[in-house]
Amino acid sequence: MEIRKVGVLGCGLMGSGIAQVAAQSGHATLVREVNQGLLDKGLASIDKFLAKSVEKGKATPEQQAAVKANLKGTLKLEDLADCDLVIEAIVEDLAVKRETFGALDKICGPEAIFASNTSSLSITEMMRSTNRPGRFIGLHFFNPVPVMKLVEVVRTVATEPAAVDAAVAYVTRAGKTPIVANDASGFIVNRLLVPFILDAIRALEEGVGSIQDIDAGMRLGCNHPMGPLTLLDFVGLDTTYYIANIMFDEFREKRFAPPPLLKRMVQAGWYGKKSGKGFYDYSKEPPVPNNALVGR
Ligand code: 3HC
Repeated sequence: MEIRKVGVLGCGLMGSGIAQVAAQSGHATLVREVNQGLLDKGLASIDKFLAKSVEKGKATPEQQAAVKANLKGTLKLEDLADCDLVIEAIVEDLAVKRETFGALDKICGPEAIFASNTSSLSITEMMRSTNRPGRFIGLHFFNPVPVMKLVEVVRTVATEPAAVDAAVAYVTRAGKTPIVANDASGFIVNRLLVPFILDAIRALEEGVGSIQDIDAGMRLGCNHPMGPLTLLDFVGLDTTYYIANIMFDEFREKRFAPPPLLKRMVQAGWYGKKSGKGFYDYSKEPPVPNNALVGR
């Protein structure tokens, strides 16, 4: 089955990136938000990215116009009726996702493939809110979506091979590299990434090294583009805490358990870059390490 029209649920950080990538790769794309303010904000972030690409000479004004022509916004779920693929990137709340997919199941044709961009919730549990178990998958994009090359294509025990093939073909056409994973919490990447970044927090808690040195260690010693504590601030400490708890619930292994320092920072409202403070203080330029965290 060829994917021609793509629906995206949610126009936040991930949803807007997913919609942009779909439109850039020539797909008619319709992104749905729950209110006009959120929709306008998401579409404006796409416009900004496209304008910058033209400024940098990475895209022509004609290409920018073509992407814009492919991309529309809506507040109505019903408008997604003729989509071949719908990718959900709404709030990480299983009940809300199930309710949305349940409603959409009555609107879209039986051939349409539904996908969730969840990073850790169960695709199988979401699939059960619809009558299309064979055509329900995970499509896990990475932040920042327009830049990151990988997409995890996640199959449940009920996903039909044809739906996996169609999703892999879509991801490839969208200019990304697909990898296929089974529906185990965290899939492949977060299964490996989450224990690593949690261990960076434990190393800090135990006084193994300072914030700067832990980050410099992995940046310069392993060529990671960002150190793990900077990456935590970038992903969001609240998001990481949420993912770690889900993975700990699933596997009951200590490596997924959120360290107390992470919990305290989330309780304090220090979510990282988006809230202005995390392992670094973003009120300064360049950001400075938040050394008060470990009492030094
Ligand atoms: N949105 C769109 N584009 C962005 C961007 C953003 N938020 N941030 C950077 N870019 C673009 C820049 O415009 C630039 O484009 P150009 O080459 O056309 O000029 C390019 O990316 C490189 O950016 P910079 O030169 O400013 O900076 P860097 O070279 O340091 O790259 C980075 C920034 C791509 C964010 C890089 O630091 C990186 O790869 N970091 C690691 C990101 C990562 O690991 N993401 C995965 C997070 S985990 C996840 O998403 C899973 C979830 O389930 C938790």
